[in-house]
Amino acid sequence: MLIIQPTIDGSFTFYSNEFEQAFHSLSGAKEESQKKFVEPCLLVEKAAKNSSLHILDICYGLGYNSAAALEAIWKVNPQCHVSIVALELDETVAKEALKQGLMEIWTETIVDLLAQLAEDKVVDNDYLKAKLLIGDARATLPRDYRADAIFLDPFSPTKCPQLWTVEFISLLAKCLKSDGLLVTYSCAASVRVAMLEAGLKIGATPNVGRRSPGSVAGHKEVGLLSLSQQEKEHLLTKAAIAYRDPNLQDSKEVIEQRRQQEQQNSNLEPTSHWKKRWIATKGLKSKE
Ligand SMILES: C[S@@+](CC[C@H](N)C(=O)[O-])C[C@H]1O[C@@H](n2cnc3c(N)ncnc32)[C@H](O)[C@@H]1O
Repeated sequence: MLIIQPTIDGSFTFYSNEFEQAFHSLSGAKEESQKKFVEPCLLVEKAAKNSSLHILDICYGLGYNSAAALEAIWKVNPQCHVSIVALELDETVAKEALKQGLMEIWTETIVDLLAQLAEDKVVDNDYLKAKLLIGDARATLPRDYRADAIFLDPFSPTKCPQLWTVEFISLLAKCLKSDGLLVTYSCAASVRVAMLEAGLKIGATPNVGRRSPGSVAGHKEVGLLSLSQQEKEHLLTKAAIAYRDPNLQDSKEVIEQRRQQEQQNSNLEPTSHWKKRWIATKGLKSKE
């Protein structure tokens, strides 16, 4: 069941009883799409220079990330041709968001286009070619798509580890153009290590409000905001052991058990030690 949830920036999202998690940060759903996804992907800068852009929206949900991308791109370049491939398990989410009026935070043109996408699963006009593929993203991901930007927005790794594995992120890396960027709201060490194991360079996205940074990854280091010393050391703890799903079809439970086993057998530093070290360091600094 989807429960309407207000967020601090005045926009609304849903809470999922099934995943026991909200679809967006409660500090602001609209702000999250704009600041944690669209801005770090440099889509505005790319729109100013390109006549076409390709976006892969993993976990389309209500459609806020695609809406924020279209709004930002067409603001700087109304002639830009945009292609979106959106993957989503549950087709009722986008329809329900439209029905409940939650999409009204976006411009009318965009709401109309995304309403067509939710209904027909395809939009094909002069400026937008979009497809909404319903099913498990591990199966529906088009292996031959090449994106300028990939939004990776599943529920958190503990709720939906299937979409945070080395194997799935490796598939995403293949879908990224040589100068494309993959962004996510998560700064989990397991996610960042999965990106590194997929052969990508990683960086942090700027903090939004008082929230932790997210992550951005690409084939090149260019333009990536480097990780702080604290973040780098986080990647050397047990929390950094990545989720694995060798055949891209295991259940959440199997993927979790596999990781727990690997953590038990690991000699890496316990993450609680890293945390204590950094709390102590911060305490010292604040008194200096
Ligand atoms: C955090 S929400 C995404 C919010 C969305 N990006 C937005 O802007 O509204 C996570 C979404 O992942 C979807 N999901 C869960 N498991 C999935 C899977 N295996 N494949 C594709 N989508 C999945 C959920 O139905 C939910 O809509």
